[in-house]
Amino acid sequence: MTNDDYSSALTRRRFLRAVLAGSALVGAGALLNSCGAPSAGTSAPATANTTPLKIGLLVPSSDIYAVLGASITQGMQIAFAQVGNEAGGRPIEIISEDEGTKPDLALQKARKLVEQDQVALVAGVVSSGVANALRDYFHDGQKLLVLANAGANALARKAKSPYIFRASFSNWQSNWQMGTWAAANIGKRAMLSAPDYAAGKEMLSAFRNSFEAAGGEVVQVQLTPFPNIGDPAPFMAQIRDAAADFVYAFYSGAASVAFVKAYSDFGLAQTVPLAGVGFLVEQDVLPQLASAALNIRSALHWAAPLDNPENKAFTTAYQKLTNQQPNVFAVQGYDAARLIIEGVNAVQGDVSQQDILLKALGAATFASPRGPFKLDPNTNNPINPCYVREVRQAGSAYTNVVIAMLEAAGDPGDDSKDTPVA
Ligand code: BEZ
Repeated sequence: MTNDDYSSALTRRRFLRAVLAGSALVGAGALLNSCGAPSAGTSAPATANTTPLKIGLLVPSSDIYAVLGASITQGMQIAFAQVGNEAGGRPIEIISEDEGTKPDLALQKARKLVEQDQVALVAGVVSSGVANALRDYFHDGQKLLVLANAGANALARKAKSPYIFRASFSNWQSNWQMGTWAAANIGKRAMLSAPDYAAGKEMLSAFRNSFEAAGGEVVQVQLTPFPNIGDPAPFMAQIRDAAADFVYAFYSGAASVAFVKAYSDFGLAQTVPLAGVGFLVEQDVLPQLASAALNIRSALHWAAPLDNPENKAFTTAYQKLTNQQPNVFAVQGYDAARLIIEGVNAVQGDVSQQDILLKALGAATFASPRGPFKLDPNTNNPINPCYVREVRQAGSAYTNVVIAMLEAAGDPGDDSKDTPVA
């Protein structure tokens, strides 16, 4: 299967046809209400606004991150269904737009959701490039944005905003912890590879800084075309020629399928171990990668086999809804929706009480499938656990087994721990 086939086949098969139109949500509610639900919130006062609460959902339904967008959507669907598809006494109505991968086009979609559809808030956003492009529009306009993936570091640092919350991670997280761990456990000479855009550069930079501080040496940094790598052969030849102890990489979605398969097809998997940040071998791509992903070690704030009640209930609900294993993007969609529910309940559906809403979002804590969920008040970014995982085969399936737990961390909140990778 080519990259494009992968995106479009999964888009067709897995992206919910109704994409959370109101009626689809009600149907899902009947299906999913049995799963460890949070409270439905406070009952509305006599004068309550019971008109639908419009939420703009901006996630990719096209290009290399289409499956990430579908997974976030499905995770949100589960959280909203658990509270009867209402928050603060108002029925939830989702209006979806395709984020794609181009920041200027995604900004137009966000403007349409806010100005034309008059949504109360926008949620989603997969790409760091898009998140950076949206920042001024939401900050200057004092509009609420709840990120369900995009890790752009600046949004927890010099471009942080009281109107932007993140339910996912910053690009620094996991990569920084993995740099120290890799120097002690994988090798001392690393080659780095990632797509040439904000997330790729920031993740490699975080890894490089802690890896070098732990005595590691980066022999080469490879930045490949984004969104599509194109012909991987020249990049595989570069890796072979670098003769590093191991390669550390960030790719995700269809880009991960292209990179990891090429790595195996060129015979590199046998000679130069591949490691990375967990998106590289997340559950969304393991069925396509199969044995090409075996033994790859990666770090992330979630792993499929986590043995906690929330993860078990979420996994059951996700399998019921999709017939698939959940992945980290679905978990982040679920947590983003739970954050929104907490905030809207706190103002009993009156989202014009923005000060109270923002405070409630910042203070929200709940048990997430990843572990306890809590935002750092300095950054509006979660303090995340960090799991080192290794891909192993279990029967006919492949999964990320946890082999070490590293220090939980929030984003540092400034660039002092980072120097640019390239
Ligand atoms: C990002 O652009 O921030 C990103 C995209 C896919 C996976 C992880 C991060």
